[in-house]
Amino acid sequence: MSSRICIIGTGYVGLVTGACFADVGHKVICVDCDESKVALLKSGGIPIYEPGLEDLVKANVAEGRLSFTASTEEGVQNSDIIFIAVPTPPQPDGSVDLAFIERVAREIAGCMSSYKIVVDKSTVPVKTGQKVAEAITRYCKAKVEFDVVSNPEFLREGFAVEDLMKPDRIVIGVQSQRPVQAMKEVYAPFEAPILVTDINSAELIKHAANSFLALKISYINAISIICEATGANVIEVANGMGMDERIGRRFLDASLGFGGSCFPKDLSAFIKISEQLGYDFKLLKEVQQINAFQMERFVKKITDTLWVLKDKTIGVLGLAFKQNTDDVRLSPAIDLCQRLEKEGAKLRVYDPKAMEKAKTVLPDATYVPEMNFVPEGCDALVIATEWPVFRKLDLERARKVMTCPIMFDGRNLFDPREMEALGWIYKSIGR
Ligand code: UGA
Repeated sequence: MSSRICIIGTGYVGLVTGACFADVGHKVICVDCDESKVALLKSGGIPIYEPGLEDLVKANVAEGRLSFTASTEEGVQNSDIIFIAVPTPPQPDGSVDLAFIERVAREIAGCMSSYKIVVDKSTVPVKTGQKVAEAITRYCKAKVEFDVVSNPEFLREGFAVEDLMKPDRIVIGVQSQRPVQAMKEVYAPFEAPILVTDINSAELIKHAANSFLALKISYINAISIICEATGANVIEVANGMGMDERIGRRFLDASLGFGGSCFPKDLSAFIKISEQLGYDFKLLKEVQQINAFQMERFVKKITDTLWVLKDKTIGVLGLAFKQNTDDVRLSPAIDLCQRLEKEGAKLRVYDPKAMEKAKTVLPDATYVPEMNFVPEGCDALVIATEWPVFRKLDLERARKVMTCPIMFDGRNLFDPREMEALGWIYKSIGR
């Protein structure tokens, strides 16, 4: 059955959700207060790089199932279910800024003239649903009935369409049974298990899941320290651990640390939420510390090997915070580049998708249009993002055009023995 859906906020979550909902047959109106973004989307442009998204948006706009507007009123009045997918940015103390959520709740309330289901998809602190319901009650002049639902999103950037189309689970947090059937109809085409909970639990599931995934990465990064001290190999340790179904192999890739717009922000928020609830979540503070230490250790590896960075040329492959995205927000790669520049190094950088966005935060680097041109004249090469294409780097050519064939691999893309056999000084993580 087709549902009439409005999605407020056309960031990663909102736009991908809107496109996927339309693709399975729902009628979707995406609302954004940024008129230039709406104009771009209406003209067939996509503000972010996400595999498969552009085709999906174009096809569904053409079929008349997906449209864009800057008017919340238009979206709300033509829909039965309204999803909120606006940013919930961090504040300086780590807590979440809920001003966008509150404003949208007021706006929705102001134009509701019949029963609506208002669904929060943004990552929010536990108990936000209650606040949204209170705000709508307060600002709804028409005094119509409504239900608030929490429906956290678990998609990963770079795999967003895939994750949304084939989710592991759908979590629906409700305060009454009334919206459950309509929500199940929205998700029926996705054939995923649906878990119906209370609103507070649904909100907590999101923060608890993201913190656990970040913890898993910090755990393997801590193990990488022990591996380096003993000559063990972190990939073999992760493989052996991951074969235990209770643990699982995914998110056990040691790295120079996690980044992005979710894990760092959500960890800080969850620590803050716990603190406000009277619990000092020291375990998660340690997750943050291991993550910061992993970057420091990596920079130290570079400075220990190159001795003085001033006037050295370093090639950096990867600027995005992970593969398959052009997103550089809180990217470990950018953090690393800024630290190297601060030490006086000159950078030659390349990323398959993130160069344009990186230029604003890393204006002094030399942007090289092709990865195989990066090594020219470099004293060392750094792998900072796990783009699979970097494995295809012409190592023979690179070795010849570099001042010294030294590679610091922050993503363990190459085999240490093979690299040494090819004449490289090769340093990676936990091996
Ligand atoms: C993360 C979660 O994985 C999603 O489930 C969640 O929906 C999303 O946050 C969100 O809250 O919106 P995302 O930040 O897009 O998704 O990216 P991840 O694939 O989780 O990667 C995060 C960081 O961890 C990246 O810097 C990545 O390189 C790093 N990472 C990941 C590792 O260092 N090792 C790993 O084994 C996995």
